[in-house]
Amino acid sequence: MRQQIVAGNWKMNNDLAQTESLITELKKQTKTSKAEVMVAPTFTNLFRAFDALRTTDIEVIAQNMHFAENGAYTGEISASMLKSVGITTVILGHSERREYFNETDAMLAKKVDAALANAMRVIFCFGEVLNDRKSSNHEQVVESQIKNALFHLEASAFKNIVLAYEPVWAIGTGETASPEQAQDMHAFIRKTLSDTYGKTVAESVSILYGGSVKPNNAQEIFGKPDVDGGLIGGAALNAADFFDIVNAF
Ligand code: 13P
Repeated sequence: MRQQIVAGNWKMNNDLAQTESLITELKKQTKTSKAEVMVAPTFTNLFRAFDALRTTDIEVIAQNMHFAENGAYTGEISASMLKSVGITTVILGHSERREYFNETDAMLAKKVDAALANAMRVIFCFGEVLNDRKSSNHEQVVESQIKNALFHLEASAFKNIVLAYEPVWAIGTGETASPEQAQDMHAFIRKTLSDTYGKTVAESVSILYGGSVKPNNAQEIFGKPDVDGGLIGGAALNAADFFDIVNAF
């Protein structure tokens, strides 16, 4: 059985006081599902969040990292820095990183390598923009994003990779992929994995859906056989909404 995961990506939201109050609210929630729960605060609040949640089963994860171990990369954060404050999972390749910070597949391949070399787990994001879907290029785009950044890896590396399909047109727009669109893409992703790495690897990798997941649509999306959870933006900023999504399994 694949691991079910619900991860909250807080993006560039919440200062320290807001982070502490959201954590206080999260601690009041009750989990009734088997899903693994993660939250990704901004860098400055990672350690405080890690410390505050260390007695819970909510994992604190990072939104990004650099591929270099250290050195002259002003403003950047390395895998070993994250690990030194207790963080062992990182989101890489979010569409906002690709769009606003020019992250390329080649750069992401290096980031993935750096994370794995530091024994970190990666939530690797990818997804098509609206024009790709309108021109029926969405599968081709997603296939190349995955292949370019991940298919240099050995099969064994995939035990530390979680995939997150996030169609760009559904992020923060209130428009979600339909459960059928999500299922079709997730099945395609699993087939792409299977064609190169075999069925056992393909069946073991958790594939999350992200893009306007809310308490009122999570159950239907998570009900699809190849959807193993969600990467949640806006709705993760409210503890009760976030746990409604966690408990939608
Ligand atoms: P929304 O849930 O706000 O659409 O954001 C999704 C996302 O980008 C999670 O990484």
